[in-house]
Amino acid sequence: MEFSIKNTQPGKQRSACIVTGVFESRQLSASAQLLDTLSNGYLTRILATGDMDGSNGSTLMLHNVPGITSERVLLVGLGKPEKLDTRAWQTALGSCLGALYSSGAASAALYLFDQPVAGRDMAFGIEQTVLIARQRLFVAGKLKSKQDPVARHLKKIHLIVGSDDQAAAETALKQALAIADGADLARDLGNLPGNVCTPTYLADEATKLAAEFGLKCDVLERKDMEKLGMGALLAVARGSTQPPKLIAVHYQGGKKNAAPVVLVGKGITFDAGGISLKPAAEMDEMKYDMSGAASVLGTLRTIATLKLPINVVGVIPSCENLPDGQAIKPGDIVTSMSGQTIEILNTDAEGRLILCDALTWVDKFKPDVVIDIATLTGACVIALGHQATGLLANNDPLADELLAAGQQAHDRAWRLPLWDDYQSQLDSNFADIGNIGGRPAGTITAACFLSRFTENYRWAHLDIAGTAWKSGKEKGSTGRPVPLLAHFLINRAGRKI
Ligand code: BES
Ligand code: MN
Ligand code: ZN
Repeated sequence: MEFSIKNTQPGKQRSACIVTGVFESRQLSASAQLLDTLSNGYLTRILATGDMDGSNGSTLMLHNVPGITSERVLLVGLGKPEKLDTRAWQTALGSCLGALYSSGAASAALYLFDQPVAGRDMAFGIEQTVLIARQRLFVAGKLKSKQDPVARHLKKIHLIVGSDDQAAAETALKQALAIADGADLARDLGNLPGNVCTPTYLADEATKLAAEFGLKCDVLERKDMEKLGMGALLAVARGSTQPPKLIAVHYQGGKKNAAPVVLVGKGITFDAGGISLKPAAEMDEMKYDMSGAASVLGTLRTIATLKLPINVVGVIPSCENLPDGQAIKPGDIVTSMSGQTIEILNTDAEGRLILCDALTWVDKFKPDVVIDIATLTGACVIALGHQATGLLANNDPLADELLAAGQQAHDRAWRLPLWDDYQSQLDSNFADIGNIGGRPAGTITAACFLSRFTENYRWAHLDIAGTAWKSGKEKGSTGRPVPLLAHFLINRAGRKI
């Protein structure tokens, strides 16, 4: 799909379809009024038939509108003007793109950015349009022997904005395309099955990404981890014949010595639970347990495409969590790289075990901040559903920055407390710490566990268990939280791009 920013008047527009907004009930937007004048009141007459009332998400495709050079005019219902918020805008945009993709139009000109969306600017509208349009083009079934046939004619989308907004719109478009590319990479990796996307596969993907953008990539092997004393990560890897990997990709866009943002992504390429085996139902979805890792690689693709002036290290601890004769058992005690001993009371709480050694290791990068991204707890899905990512942090300004980035991207997070009051749930009679904290506040105690390994730096944890993929009929990776992380880094880089 080709996108371009234009400032063409509707009367001079020659693309196959003009798209314009109609409010409820039957109120024309500014561009619709222009078209109405050019067509001698045709739109008003059509609306008077009652075929479309402008309700949010409704559409009506018109052909051969008198006085209009374009073959088609698509009316998109924006709903009540005072109710045009982010959600209503996304609904309208979704129906608009659905109607365009199922039409025969090869190109479309969207006159939709002159409407005030509550609390949003024109750049947001552009970004959302590109992301929603790209999301609909994403093919999940790449491993099907025959690709599903798609009869899609639309090749070009022109985004029409006023002459004063051209530069800002170009920036938003560039940014949105880079975010879409990053999210697509995260989705593709997430959707791959566990027998394809192994720790070795992730390491190869990271190496390829690094080569494409001229970045440095290091992959630590089992023997390296043994030397570093990563007893927690290695404990999880024991039950699998796939070798574990610890991947680090260095993006150096900023000053040589500027402290980096370190992103640490959980890379469990399949989580069967280990000896604390998970039930069979929906266990296939545990191929998504490397979604944190996928979001780190996706975000690196986005920022490398945008050449952001910032330093970022993407770190991925990766292994499988499977049961076998070598696997760790409930009650086993291991020593982490930090020296703290851990009683593994449930082998299914493996994410925190691989993350804790990675979090200890990244201290060597003298980070400005560290953010880990992990499909860490089923409890987070219960607390926040599939709408919000869980956020916990040992630093308020960092938490606020991430919350704001999530709002900006409409890829939102919600903060949970990390009070010391929860820490005692991790007490163990036999080791420094247990790896589970009981049923109450499972997401918080998981973060409490990680907090024991992040005391040297500003740190935030994103629990994406509910947001990284969709289940059921729409099963598939969402690419979240690449948009959130991208906005966070764009803001940090201190310029729009
Ligand atoms: N990868 C899972 C978390 C998960 C479960 C994400 C379901 C999305 C859906 C994680 O490794 C896990 O198994 N966590 C356990 C922790 C518990 C044993 C303390 C959980 O949430 O049940
Ligand atoms: Mn698990
Ligand atoms: Zn897991």
